[in-house]
Amino acid sequence: MSDNVTIFEMSPRDGLQNEGRAIATADKINLVNLLSGCGFSRIEVASFVSPKWVPQMADGAQVLAGIARKAGVSYTALTPNLRGLNAAIAAGADEVAIFASASEGFSQHNINCSIAQSLERFAPMLPVVRDHGLPLRAYVSCVTDCPYDGPTPPAQVADVAAKLYAMGAYEVSLGDTIGAGTPDTIAAMLRAVCDAVPARALAGHYHDTHGRACDNIVASLDFGLRSFDGSVAGLGGCPYAPGSRGNVATEDVVELLERLGYPTGIDRAALAIAAEFARALVEQTDAL
Ligand code: HMG
Ligand code: MG
Repeated sequence: MSDNVTIFEMSPRDGLQNEGRAIATADKINLVNLLSGCGFSRIEVASFVSPKWVPQMADGAQVLAGIARKAGVSYTALTPNLRGLNAAIAAGADEVAIFASASEGFSQHNINCSIAQSLERFAPMLPVVRDHGLPLRAYVSCVTDCPYDGPTPPAQVADVAAKLYAMGAYEVSLGDTIGAGTPDTIAAMLRAVCDAVPARALAGHYHDTHGRACDNIVASLDFGLRSFDGSVAGLGGCPYAPGSRGNVATEDVVELLERLGYPTGIDRAALAIAAEFARALVEQTDAL
C-alpha cells in the first residue's frame, strides 16, 4: 500500500463553472496561483465551451494568460469541440480534456447531441491534439446515475470509456456527476469498466452530493484506481445536472488517502489556504 495517488485539482473549472455571479478573472487567477503552491501536478483551470451555455467560463484565455505558471504543473482545459480545442491551444493550455456522457439524457442536456454524435465531434480534434503534442484526458459523465435517465447500465459506461481510451486519452475520468453513486454501484460500474480500460488509466471524479464520495474512492482503490479528481472546499456542480453539488473536497481526499497510507504529495497547509480563499469566493457569491 505504498503506491502514490495523484489528485487532479478541479476547482477553477468544475468548482466555479456553476457559480451564478460572475467571478472576477483576477480572483480565478489568484485561486490558481494558490493551488500551484499546493503540490498538484495538474490543475484544470478553464473550459472553452460556448459562453452562452456556461458564461462563468468565458474568460478562460485571460485566466491562462494571467496565472504564474509553476514548473512541473500542467494547466489544463476542458474542450467540447474543435473550436474549443483551438482556443485552448491558442491560450496555452498544457493539456486538454474531451467529455462525453454514458447516458443519452445528460449528453443531450449538457452538449446538445447524442453520445454517438459527441464521439464523432471529437474525431477531428485528435490529429490537432497529436500535432501539438498535448496530453489528452477524457471524462465520462453519469457513470452510475443520470438526472434524466435514472441508473446508468455499467456496460454503457465501459463502452464509452473504451471508445475515449481508444481515441488516445491517457486517462479516462469517471464522473459521478450528481453524486448518487454508492460503493456498491461504483463497484458494479468499475467491474465492467476495468475489463475495457486498464485501472491505471482510470480516474474517479466523484461529486459529493450525498456525502458518499470518500466511500466511493475507497471502493475504487480496491479496483486499482490511483487518480482522483477533487475541488478545494468542495466547490462546484454542473449547470446541466440539476441537484449536482461540488466535487469531493480535495482536503477530504488528501486526509483520507494519507490516513490509508497513500502519499499524495500535497502540502496540507498550502491547501488549507487555497481552500479558505475558494470558500470566501463562493460565500461572497452566496451572500448576493
Ligand atoms: P450547440 O448549441 O449545440 O452548438 O452547443 P453550436 O455549434 O450551434 O454552438 C452554439 C453557439 O456556441 C454558437 O454561437 C457557436 O459559435 C458557439 P452563436 O452562433 O449562437 O453565436 N460555440 C462556441 N463558443 C465558444 N467556444 C466553443 C464553442 N462551440 C460553439 N467551443 C456546445 C454545443 C458543446 C458548444 C454547447 O452545448 C456547450 O458549450 N456545452 C458545454 C456545457 C458545459 O460546459 N458543461 C459543463 C462541463 S461538463 C461537466 O461539468 C462534467 C464533468 O465535470 C464530469 C462530471 O462531473 O460528470 C466534466
Ligand atoms: Mg464534474
